[in-house]
Amino acid sequence: MNVLSNLAVRDVETLVHPYTNLAAFRDTGPLVIERGKGIHVYDTEGREYIEGMSGLWCTSLGYGNEELVEAAASQMRKLSFAHLFNGRSHDPAIELAEKLKEIAPVPVSKVFFCNSGSEANDTQMKLVWYMNNGLGRPKKKKIVSRQRAYHGVTIAAASLTGLAANHTDFDLPIAGVVHTGCPHHYRYAADGESEEEFATRLARELEELILREDPDTVAAFIAEPVMGAGGVIVPPAGYFEKIMKVCAKYDLLMIADEVICGFGRLGRMFGSEVVGFRPDTVSVAKALSSAYLPIAAVLVPERMYQALAAESGKIGTFGHGFTYSGHPVAAAVAVKTLEIYARDGIVAKVAAIAPQFQQWLRRLGEHPLVGEARGLGLVGGVEMVADKRTKRAFDPKQGVGARCVAFAQAEGLIVRSLAGDTLSLCPPLVISPPQIDELFERLTRALDRTLDWAKGQGLLVA
Ligand SMILES: Cc1ncc(COP(=O)(O)O)c(C=O)c1O
Repeated sequence: MNVLSNLAVRDVETLVHPYTNLAAFRDTGPLVIERGKGIHVYDTEGREYIEGMSGLWCTSLGYGNEELVEAAASQMRKLSFAHLFNGRSHDPAIELAEKLKEIAPVPVSKVFFCNSGSEANDTQMKLVWYMNNGLGRPKKKKIVSRQRAYHGVTIAAASLTGLAANHTDFDLPIAGVVHTGCPHHYRYAADGESEEEFATRLARELEELILREDPDTVAAFIAEPVMGAGGVIVPPAGYFEKIMKVCAKYDLLMIADEVICGFGRLGRMFGSEVVGFRPDTVSVAKALSSAYLPIAAVLVPERMYQALAAESGKIGTFGHGFTYSGHPVAAAVAVKTLEIYARDGIVAKVAAIAPQFQQWLRRLGEHPLVGEARGLGLVGGVEMVADKRTKRAFDPKQGVGARCVAFAQAEGLIVRSLAGDTLSLCPPLVISPPQIDELFERLTRALDRTLDWAKGQGLLVA
């Protein structure tokens, strides 16, 4: 074992870390972060890092925002907890629901609060089932998701997720979830297939899947506007338009998972607006509170609300809800977060600086280690390959992504490596133009160091 600090030793002896190779971790130990300010975080040794991933795609307003701290403190002093069960209510939840209805990308009737993206997507699935039972079509229950989608880790949400690591040995996905093709042009388009042709094929494959499953049994389609954890995958031109046509034909409810893309990430308030996706219902989380406290929501359309109301009237209650649904402190922080987005013109600011961010990404696409660098707004993915010409991926066991993350860390930059050795970038929305330059300069140095290392290991195709 390396020499680990006291805190690191205590960590290794006490925590089960999410998304970590638990066996290997005992040797490497944790990176312990102590504090944050703006777009930077600092470890226990006082080293500074640019938080290039906004934590987990969530700290949109950066760290140490005193207005958010104050919103939480004053709500805690006034009313630290109240719930929404049995018709009880409180001001922060009402105000937040009103604000969400105002800014939603589609007409919203009511808002259901929960605590995480996973809970929001689990709730979506339950609402679809409950609604269709209420509407007298009990067979119409299956949900179509996509390969490489990420919708969370609870049993239903993990089933919607289309990544092997979330299914293998967890005995998932559950019945009733089916996955259609992933709109990753670089990886899955046939030779010479244009974006438009690829999108047409994906829509055709979706229709074939629905027909195979029996349209009377297929209830909904769920999608992230830009896929995040699956590898930062930007849909090809015309994709959502074609997919929506197929779904409309078979009366599928459209669910947008805006957990990453919501609240300005792509340069509009919601990602759906950028990629031409018109959903019926929306899941939001993460940047809803700039991750100062956990809170998430499902934006419920009128048609669904009417069915829920009628069904609960029959049964006697709507039997769903979390203790912390609409927690007043989290809701007060979210209200303040939305106020700041509006007052400071955060979404317009993202739209203004996104071209600089995207230009840097395109430049990284020229790097000898990079097969494709892609993105939209202030999100990016840098896919590393062993052979640029043939797009051959590295063997996952070679750990190229993890190595690059370590080099980036040594350069003072936090990024993540996703499946397929794709580095993801998702900085706080408050990043400044000089800070964007600094982020990419650090990343370029990390890529250069990874290239040297990979050459030394003989991992690159000459
Ligand atoms: C698109 C998307 N949906 C859902 C989730 C799950 O959210 P949580 O981790 O809060 O349960 C995530 C998390 O990264 C996400 O990126």
